[in-house]
Amino acid sequence: MPIRVDFRDPSTALTWIEETRIKRPYRPRFFTAFCAALSRRSSVRILELGSGPGLLARALLVHCDVRSYVALDFSPAMHALAAEHLGPLASRVDFVTRDFREPAWPDGLGLFDAVVTLQAAHETRHKRHLVPLLARARLVLDPCGVVLYADHYLTPETKLPALTPAREDQPLALAQAGFVDVELLHDEGNMALWRGTNPPA
Ligand SMILES: C[S@@+](CC[C@H](N)C(=O)[O-])C[C@H]1O[C@@H](n2cnc3c(N)ncnc32)[C@H](O)[C@@H]1O
Repeated sequence: MPIRVDFRDPSTALTWIEETRIKRPYRPRFFTAFCAALSRRSSVRILELGSGPGLLARALLVHCDVRSYVALDFSPAMHALAAEHLGPLASRVDFVTRDFREPAWPDGLGLFDAVVTLQAAHETRHKRHLVPLLARARLVLDPCGVVLYADHYLTPETKLPALTPAREDQPLALAQAGFVDVELLHDEGNMALWRGTNPPA
């Protein structure tokens, strides 16, 4: 069954935000886990993939020492909602409208200390695209930079199994993309947050 949701439609974007707040009350604990993972780093350059309404961006900008923040999403409607949600913090964010299914999405973005992504990697629309997405994310990371990847994993109730890797395949995908020291940071609501490190040069 194909995904029918298109976040480039403004009303779809708004509905997703409201429904997700109610359906997934555990998400703030993922924001906390992302922040904890970056709390020991200073002057962090962050790229977020599928940044949506800017909820994770707000948490990271408030709680971490962020030098720069690039929010990449293919939906201008989501970027508009994020700018509204971030208020004055939006001036510290570079909003990039780009489709991460295009192989050239990393071109010209520069280098980062952390690439973060929450509940968005499945939007590549098939789990076979996960390793290539993560491998491209590694291209924009400095040596010893980290990827923080959180998304749902397969359960018997999963509605779109083609999009959703098994839980044990999530860390394997990070390893196949070339990351080392892959570690689980949080697991709740059939969603896991993993950290992978770009090997030293
Ligand atoms: C389920 S929402 C998650 C938003 C945000 N990460 C969060 O958890 O609050 C998925 C996001 O990915 C974006 N997205 C979907 N397909 C994309 C693509 N091919 N390239 C870039 N962004 C995409 C959507 O516009 C949406 O903002």
